[in-house]
Amino acid sequence: GAARALRAGAAGAAGLVRRGERLLITKVATTPFKDQRPGTSGLRKAVPVYQQPHYIENFVQAILDVADLRGKTLVVGGDGRFLNDHAIQIILQMAAAAGIARIVVGRDGILSTPAVSAVIRARGAAGGIVLSASHNPGGPEGDFGIKYNAANGGPAPESVMQAIYERTLAIESYSLVQGPDLDLARLGETKLADTVVEVVDPVETYVALMETLFDFGRLKAFLASGFRMRFDAMSAVTGPYAKAIFEDRLGAPAGTVLNGKPLPDFGGHHPDPNPVHAVELIRELASPGAPGFGAASDGDGDRNLIVGNGLVVAPSDSLAVIAANAHLAPAYAGGLAGVARSMPTSRAVDRVAERLGIRSYETPTGWKFFGNLLDADRITLCGEESAGTGSNHVREKDGIWAVLMWLTILAERGESVGEILRQHWATFGRDYYARHDYEEVPTEAGEAVINGLRGLLPGLPGRKVGGLTVAAADEFAYTDPVDGSVSQRQGIRIFFEEGARAVFRLSGTGTSGATIRVYLERYEADPSRQNLDSGEALAAVAAAAREIADIQGKTGRAGPTVIA
Ligand code: G6P
Ligand code: ZN
Repeated sequence: GAARALRAGAAGAAGLVRRGERLLITKVATTPFKDQRPGTSGLRKAVPVYQQPHYIENFVQAILDVADLRGKTLVVGGDGRFLNDHAIQIILQMAAAAGIARIVVGRDGILSTPAVSAVIRARGAAGGIVLSASHNPGGPEGDFGIKYNAANGGPAPESVMQAIYERTLAIESYSLVQGPDLDLARLGETKLADTVVEVVDPVETYVALMETLFDFGRLKAFLASGFRMRFDAMSAVTGPYAKAIFEDRLGAPAGTVLNGKPLPDFGGHHPDPNPVHAVELIRELASPGAPGFGAASDGDGDRNLIVGNGLVVAPSDSLAVIAANAHLAPAYAGGLAGVARSMPTSRAVDRVAERLGIRSYETPTGWKFFGNLLDADRITLCGEESAGTGSNHVREKDGIWAVLMWLTILAERGESVGEILRQHWATFGRDYYARHDYEEVPTEAGEAVINGLRGLLPGLPGRKVGGLTVAAADEFAYTDPVDGSVSQRQGIRIFFEEGARAVFRLSGTGTSGATIRVYLERYEADPSRQNLDSGEALAAVAAAAREIADIQGKTGRAGPTVIA
């Protein structure tokens, strides 16, 4: 708050330090902020928090101190939201002071999250800084975020993030090379002290990568044959990528990409591709004569939504369908090494893996946990219930990649989204799925729910609740099979004898209070019962979850704020 801003402001500048001949580094005294602990996906805070004097600088210095990128290449870019411009200039000045050899930055500071990952890998960079708060709203009252990615192109592992956090608690100064803002509108190289700043086309490397994975000629012919689609870029970062791919390369008519101009406040909308915030797209596709395929991506381009005529594909189902059909795309024609899903994601993809005779891994929530599995070639595909799917082509989830994958499946199978889904369920069974979110509950109440459940675990097996019987219950912990690192307390799992499961965890991405997430699923093998309303199919599991966790007693909330 104000007191902290004053304290940090009062620290002031500590003067200039000369190094070598030309490099003029300003060292600024600062004091730690206590709230710079990164969450599931970097440091995400409300814009006014980031606007406190020294707030951005402290966190960036902590990254630079821990990552030690002297003499190496760093990639920087963001989703263009409010503060993107400002933060990039600070990062350039600080990275120059840290002796980084080369900074590759997207034109106008723009790079989608999967594009950062692609550029890190293509350029052999030592790491990258991504500026985004993903699907959270932007603008002066919205959110901002800073995330650090490692040399493999993926979010830095927990140990690195923990070290960065510890550094933020001890920081006493930061260093920068002062000067006027660099012009990031022009492609090419400039120098900042001894550092080369290279401004690149944000789309080029990414599009070239997609061309190696998918058959663009085949997709172009499919669209030319009259198949129509819509892609809603939600006034966020994917607009230029989607126009370059779907309209320019694949020849879809102008207007296929909706809301294609990135805006610093996303036009005042939530750039979150879910049934609530992509309601116009869903409505359009439900109307007579609508295109057969709709899709959307989020603020920074890593999430996706897949829509057919009158239906929305659940992300857990999308992952399973992609796994079952990936061989239709050239890059995956040789088969999959394995697949992975985050623990709360439905078990649909496990059934596909079993059929294919490949391994299926269950990881904690957060894309960073897939990194080691991908690097070690244990998996080819992975995904999460939170609308992310991706593959070994980068180390982030990738919205446009998922859309190209679905477009490939639609082109090769010649069936509608609905037909593909129903056939998938008929073959593998359906995992009905829903997530109930209790947003902005007081932090202590959120913790009370999880702590309460933890205490109940030993007594749960055998308990009968609303027609269901608990078969097993535990708290999920993960041992990374590649590096042996252990992540404890990753969510409470309750398995029921009736093929159902309830999972409870606290969101790691919220910016105020706690969000309790309750993930519900139930398996249905009988095709004649696979077309129920999912609320109806899950009613008993939802009731059992509510009763066991006593959410109302502990939070005063009678029901969720959002059902996804
Ligand atoms: C971000 C991460 C995802 C993760 C999601 C969950 O989007 O990139 O990997 O699944 O957050 O967020 P939560 O709010 O449930 O912690
Ligand atoms: Zn995102």
